[in-house]
Amino acid sequence: MPNNTNSKPQVKIILGISGGIAAYKCPDLVRRLKERNFDVRVVLTPSAEEFVTPMALQAVSGNPVHRETFDEQMEAAMGHIELAKWADYILIAPATANTVAKLVHGQADNLLTTIILASQADLVVAPAMNQQMWANQNTQRNIAELMSKGVEVLGPASGEQACGDVGQGRMIEPLDVAQRMQAISEQEKVLKGKKVVITAGPTVEAIDPVRYISNHSSGKMGYAIARAAQKAGANVSLVSGPVNIAAPKDVKLVSVVSAAEMFAAVQQESTDTDIFIGCAAVADYTPVDVAKQKIKKNEETMSLNLKRNPDILAWVAKQAKRPYVVGFAAESQKLKGFATRKLEKKKLDLICANDISCENLGFNSDDNQLLLLDKNGNENLLPIAAKEILAGQIIQHIANKISEY
Ligand code: C5P
Repeated sequence: MPNNTNSKPQVKIILGISGGIAAYKCPDLVRRLKERNFDVRVVLTPSAEEFVTPMALQAVSGNPVHRETFDEQMEAAMGHIELAKWADYILIAPATANTVAKLVHGQADNLLTTIILASQADLVVAPAMNQQMWANQNTQRNIAELMSKGVEVLGPASGEQACGDVGQGRMIEPLDVAQRMQAISEQEKVLKGKKVVITAGPTVEAIDPVRYISNHSSGKMGYAIARAAQKAGANVSLVSGPVNIAAPKDVKLVSVVSAAEMFAAVQQESTDTDIFIGCAAVADYTPVDVAKQKIKKNEETMSLNLKRNPDILAWVAKQAKRPYVVGFAAESQKLKGFATRKLEKKKLDLICANDISCENLGFNSDDNQLLLLDKNGNENLLPIAAKEILAGQIIQHIANKISEY
């Protein structure tokens, strides 16, 4: 239901429209946003004007539409820097592949990209493009980069496209965009004032100066949780093994390589922590000795002498003044049984279990499905979703739990 009460102050939103066919839906989007009590100002890129008229947008938004960086009249009324400072949110819908790429590189070649660069407002994008352009690895890399910077990405949806192709790349419908914007703007800072330490990624255990033991953890889940916790108002430290993900915005990143380094960093970071989330795939064993020189392949067989790594999660849970402790369990069989055993053995408050025998889920993929089990025997299934979405659900779940803690 639209919330049209005027008791709350209006949330100020710049709707940036870039040049895709979905721009014709924007007058409807403006109406949907206004129904939800947003104060909307529209900024058009030059190519967006090919698809939607400024007049229609002015009529529905009730405000002049901003089109040129150096329009004297507009600058006199509300200059572009003033507009950048005015906004609580900047929503780009539709966001073309070109505009997405410009955002990644901080270009400022039109009014919209200039405003974004000059603004502290939270950025939300609703991509819309041909399915092949969406699937292109440059676009995917750009989107991942934006997400890692805390940009919310809405959609895109799948279906028939204006060009006749079928696939992912349609802008999600105006009503959905407006509902998601409302949810984002009403999101409570459920972890405000809390300190959260998260481990993420793999650890890398050196055998000699060239070889190592490691695993396929991408770090995506841990980084998504760090972003979700930061957005929920927490003060976040992310202790991460080597990954290919940009550091999340406003999070303290402590980069480590080996399990021993991760353990030392956690010992340092976890004093006075409210929540500890062990998401890293810590190598269970490490070589007893690291060869100083590259080992030569002189023998037909060779064996490595390994020793157990410290269990970082169990160590945190053992501390007298312990935080709320959350672990992960990646299992290929008997998911609930093995995860419950881990929860009890490591004395955790909550464990997030995922079945790694499911194709395209868990390790190194974008999606996951998690079974949350807590120490009181409660269970919650978080159905298959993007790791970004699951991260938000996990943070909300933890926030609910610690309020009873
Ligand atoms: O025992 P297992 O490795 O399956 O447990 C997984 C959980 O324990 C994860 O949360 C992982 O981050 C954590 N862990 C750890 N230190 C280890 C091994 C696992 O913190 N040495």
